[in-house]
Amino acid sequence: MNFLAEIRSRFAKSLHSLTGFEGDVAPVLEQIRPSDGKFGDYQANCAMPLGKQLGKPPREIAAALVESLDVADLCEVPEIAGPGFINLKIKDEAITTALAAAAKDTQHLGVPQAAEPRCMVVDYSSPNVAKPMHVGHIRSTVIGAAIANVLRFLGHKVITDNHIGDWGTQFGMIIYGYKHFVDESALAKEPVAELSRLYKLVNSLVEYHGAKTSGLPAINERIAKQEQTVAELSAAEPTGDKKADKQAAKKLRQAEAALGDLRKEKESIEKKIAAVDEDATLAAMAAEHATIGRAVLDETAKLHADDVTNKELWNKFLPACMDEIQKTYDRLNVSFDHTLGESFYHDRLAAVVTDLQQRGLATESDGAMCVFLEGFAAPFIVRKQDGAFLYSTTDLATIAYRLEEWQPDAILYVVDHRQGLHFEQLFATAKQCGCENVELEHVSFGTVLGEDGKPYKTRSGSAVGLMGLLDEAVDRARAIADESPVLTTDDERQQVAERIGIGGIKYADLAHNRTSDYTFSYDKMLAMNGNTAAYMQYSYARVRGIFGKAKVTEEQALAGADSISIDSPEERALAMQLLRFAEALDKVVEDYRPNHLTAYLFDLAQAYATFFQNCPVIKAETEELKSSRLALCALSARTLETGLGLLGIECVERM
Ligand code: ARG
Repeated sequence: MNFLAEIRSRFAKSLHSLTGFEGDVAPVLEQIRPSDGKFGDYQANCAMPLGKQLGKPPREIAAALVESLDVADLCEVPEIAGPGFINLKIKDEAITTALAAAAKDTQHLGVPQAAEPRCMVVDYSSPNVAKPMHVGHIRSTVIGAAIANVLRFLGHKVITDNHIGDWGTQFGMIIYGYKHFVDESALAKEPVAELSRLYKLVNSLVEYHGAKTSGLPAINERIAKQEQTVAELSAAEPTGDKKADKQAAKKLRQAEAALGDLRKEKESIEKKIAAVDEDATLAAMAAEHATIGRAVLDETAKLHADDVTNKELWNKFLPACMDEIQKTYDRLNVSFDHTLGESFYHDRLAAVVTDLQQRGLATESDGAMCVFLEGFAAPFIVRKQDGAFLYSTTDLATIAYRLEEWQPDAILYVVDHRQGLHFEQLFATAKQCGCENVELEHVSFGTVLGEDGKPYKTRSGSAVGLMGLLDEAVDRARAIADESPVLTTDDERQQVAERIGIGGIKYADLAHNRTSDYTFSYDKMLAMNGNTAAYMQYSYARVRGIFGKAKVTEEQALAGADSISIDSPEERALAMQLLRFAEALDKVVEDYRPNHLTAYLFDLAQAYATFFQNCPVIKAETEELKSSRLALCALSARTLETGLGLLGIECVERM
């Protein structure tokens, strides 16, 4: 049962009978929301805006709505309060009936299945496989998997696709690295470590030359311009007009701040250069490989042109890279229906550009093939001057393939917010090529920050390697497990540590509103109190503990759900919270935000704790009451386990 959805649909009918109402019902129905329980379980706030719209007193509108509202099977008689709020209290009988039904529905716990299932492609994780995966990729992996799970749970058809970067410049880098710097015996023994060393080495040399030849001159030019602006602004004479002078002073301060930022940027570029210059071996390599930037692009172009040697090397390296990312997926316990990487679309890229040309959408500009889009300052480039295709071209080919192969209603891209412009341009282009009816959505997320407020890095300064990060979380979680009096064997402690550690990282990624940045902190994510995985797992274990003490299985406890009593306020509050699972899941898919589900589960754990404090279970006054309360415990355990499961978080039996 989804009370909120049900009440909204009853209101929709009632709205139609309202004289003079002709508008869109959806925004009106949004004014019907869960409330805190003091004045009822739900509150409809639509009479006020409707009153304005229809030019009638809101209380009159509220009375008319209530008059035609058919909710007698669900709610007590609706009450009108204040200027025209409609308060709705769910009948106890409706609650207990819904709980009994939830207990019988072992698969979905009474959560209604989508009336019109949609076919949704979810593109997530999608790392560039020749580079070590980093903390941003966990966020995509964890958020994407949770969204896919929830959509599936609600009855939608979901196709997950890991759009790995297995074809780009990074392969040019390892091919170049292999040709010039490889240690064959290391490659034979530990291919992934050697490839990663080659990637990092070549990348640092490319960055070094890039910084020297273009990064530094460019920043110097920008600094000079900004210095001039600052000089001009500070030379301006006061006009005597207070307001204008104040504004001028503000402008000057802003210009100075911008100059400060640019100087900092220059410092960091200089640091990069110095890191190579100060290392004799690296400096010698850099001198010897002065044209490495161009050379890497050439190696990439040769690979794309089916050069035999480069293709062979690619075929040799790819499996090692895939094994490496698979290790991470195994550890995170995620999988994909498809892993169609960039290389898969290679043959289709030329056709994408031809098609755009034929449609008159792509035109040549400075030798590059561009799509000029209304509302965008820069064009969407689909073929570079040198003939190379780009990330954009591959993504267009990918959309075409997905539409042809799966006919989806929506494609969701769970990708870092920094790619926002790319997706805006991609979607705008795709819309012009005949996919107006597909929902294309960039499910973006913010950066994971270190405690210094900058993108999270390890002490050594490199972007954090994923495996090391997971290991550390598990090591720290082991301390929690070691303190537990109920975990007796080493194996058991290790298993719990693994679940708390990995769960902690996942939960932190999910519980923060995805669009904001968040600060990565082991201490916070592993805390036993607050909205954390450890707290949720502990709550679950505590619920499960009851069954042992009562000497019943969870299934046996669940059988009592046919006659649950909700006479005390704590029982009723827990019951209502259990039944709000469906509402929480609806909210997750509404704007693809899993934090609605973590918030719901946290509230559920708290409602359970309050219930447990106030309502004796094993020592309940009567056998009937004991059975009823055990059933509430069983439903709480099921809902917590199912909800956490959708988030990819495993529970523990004891901790
Ligand atoms: N490989 C890209 C990266 O690591 C993300 C790809 C996202 N998916 C897509 N269809 N563009 O930045």
